[in-house]
Amino acid sequence: SDEPLVLGIETSCDETGVGIVRGSTLLADAIASSLDEHARFGGVVPEVASRAHLEAMVPGIERACKQANVRLDDVDAIAVTSGPGLAGALLVGVASAKALALGLGKPLYGVNHLAAHVAVDTLEHGPLPEPCLAMLVSGGHSSLLLVEDVTQKIDPLGSTIDDAAGEAFDKVARLLGLPFPGGPYIDREAKQGDNAYVTFPRGLTGPRDFERHRFDFSFSGLKTAVARWVEARERSGEPIPVADVAASFQEAVCDVLTRKAVDACKNAGVTDLLIGGGVAANSRLRVLAEERAGKVGIRVRVPRPGLCTDNGAMVAALGVELVSRGVSPSALDLPADSSMPV
Ligand code: KG4
Ligand code: ZN
Repeated sequence: SDEPLVLGIETSCDETGVGIVRGSTLLADAIASSLDEHARFGGVVPEVASRAHLEAMVPGIERACKQANVRLDDVDAIAVTSGPGLAGALLVGVASAKALALGLGKPLYGVNHLAAHVAVDTLEHGPLPEPCLAMLVSGGHSSLLLVEDVTQKIDPLGSTIDDAAGEAFDKVARLLGLPFPGGPYIDREAKQGDNAYVTFPRGLTGPRDFERHRFDFSFSGLKTAVARWVEARERSGEPIPVADVAASFQEAVCDVLTRKAVDACKNAGVTDLLIGGGVAANSRLRVLAEERAGKVGIRVRVPRPGLCTDNGAMVAALGVELVSRGVSPSALDLPADSSMPV
């Protein structure tokens, strides 16, 4: 086959991901997560994540090669997330990728984590519609991006000014006594709840926010509102209607996300909305996005949940785009950049 075969490495947060992709075909997606080790802290502990990457990296590479039935020597390029993310965690992936590239004599591509979240959609739906609007919502980021060329021209339209969407899910889950990470638990509870039980605030949607924060998000006020509501209930001695609060909170988040995403599509004149990141697994977000985008002729593309969360396949998928579009590889002194812009 003359389609590029790329091995991708992802270590920006708590997932050690090694993926192998040929063209738009996913051949292997080895993932090890240190999430269990962080659960008792209620969030990812950087030092713990770095050490876990160091242990999981080489076994992950071996597993991916076995899964894909390829030898390391067969790959055409090595791609690695070089930012943004946790500095120490990124270093493990970048150092490993450089060693592989040098040892194998193959080109190295340092890639942006957010661009990789966009590129992964090729593995689910084929060639990317460009330009398109991408909404990335996870525990670490919440952004609206105008993607003109996933390999070199992504325009950030807006992002969260405080908590990320997933972070809000995790914090509210904690308030409601649900396990970490809370997103999937809120999603499940909400199915049994009334999403109009409480009307929680919709951050940055007021008329005065339109000028400066039209495509930005804010979720910390929402989280505080849920906390106040729960405290008041506790003081009154009444039980907390967990499912109703979960559904009402989830509705507030999904309402704002989908409203702003559709507005951004219309504003940019694009007809394809791509949603990625862990929160894209949310069932209400998917339904509401389809509903609102569908009304105005915008197509929604959401990769399957396993591809939305952090993984190595997304990095490999972007690597394939870089190779096939003839972008020059990175130098072997490639740094890790924890706050890399798109
Ligand atoms: O992309 P991801 O795996 O890791 C990064 O943060 O980069 O996203 C994890 C986030 C967590 O905050 C988790 O609670 C959230 O995605 N999440 C969800 C759902 N599944 C995962 N949030 C809402 N609904 C879900 N079904
Ligand atoms: Zn991510």
